[in-house]
Amino acid sequence: MNVRPDFSKNANHAETAPAFLSVWDMHSYYGESYIVQGISFNVHEGEILALLGRNGAGKTTTLRSIARLDDPQVNKGEIWLDHQPLHRMKSHQASVAGLGLVPEDRRIIPGLTVEENLQLAQITPPIGWSLERLYDLFPRLGERRKQEGVTLSGGEQQMLAIARALARDIKVLLLDEPYEGLAPVIVDEIEKTLRLIKEQGMTTILVEQNAVRALQLADRAVILDTGSIVFDGSAAEVLENEGLRAEYLAI
Ligand SMILES: Nc1ncnc2c1ncn2[C@@H]1O[C@H](COP(=O)(O)OP(=O)(O)OP(=O)(O)O)[C@@H](O)[C@H]1O
Ligand SMILES: [Mg+2]
Repeated sequence: MNVRPDFSKNANHAETAPAFLSVWDMHSYYGESYIVQGISFNVHEGEILALLGRNGAGKTTTLRSIARLDDPQVNKGEIWLDHQPLHRMKSHQASVAGLGLVPEDRRIIPGLTVEENLQLAQITPPIGWSLERLYDLFPRLGERRKQEGVTLSGGEQQMLAIARALARDIKVLLLDEPYEGLAPVIVDEIEKTLRLIKEQGMTTILVEQNAVRALQLADRAVILDTGSIVFDGSAAEVLENEGLRAEYLAI
């Protein structure tokens, strides 16, 4: 059995309850380019963590590193998910271990209907997320179940990408800019759904350019600047701290 190390910096602090996902001293490279420069943070079970920072700060690289994709290479560090050492896994193993990355480009499979996209992702028999449960969460997908996935609107494709991750019965949802390019009314709808998913116990890392939106939804925030963490604390604290927002988020 794998025993997760205790990464808490201060055992007396309420925020250092045993973490569900722990990233410890992670360093990531694209070839010679040193991008993520030794970051450590925790995500607790059932919370939404906003991972923020300016363009090029290293947010996508951090998500890809956690998901164990081939690029970037993680040269040093540990990543633990619910006692499982992700840093020793390939991406497909990390996926089986419960990691669900929804990339920016959504990757809906052409030629398949909404329902087929979901069925392909579903583990059989479905454990947590049946089609009915997914359609309850995303009524628009239920209405369009026979429509080809790639013909959905941008917002609906984002919903399908999230539903497809859930269908795999994941433990942690990693979202890379889910609101990008979507009308505010659709963002409202997705945000409402993310709240419902949280109420059902999901743990989420949310990367968003729309930092205010993300902070309003999130419990905690981690801010990256050129591959290093410059803030780790409550989301409310970032919303209240004008200096921090101006310096690292340009808002
Ligand atoms: N495949 C790659 N090869 C080389 N360098 C890369 C690659 N992908 C990203 N980078 C570089 O790594 C740095 C961090 O990029 P990353 O995509 O993680 O930033 P980000 O915070 O997600 O930015 P954005 O908000 O624009 O999405 C940038 O300097 C970027 O140019
Ligand atoms: Mg990015």
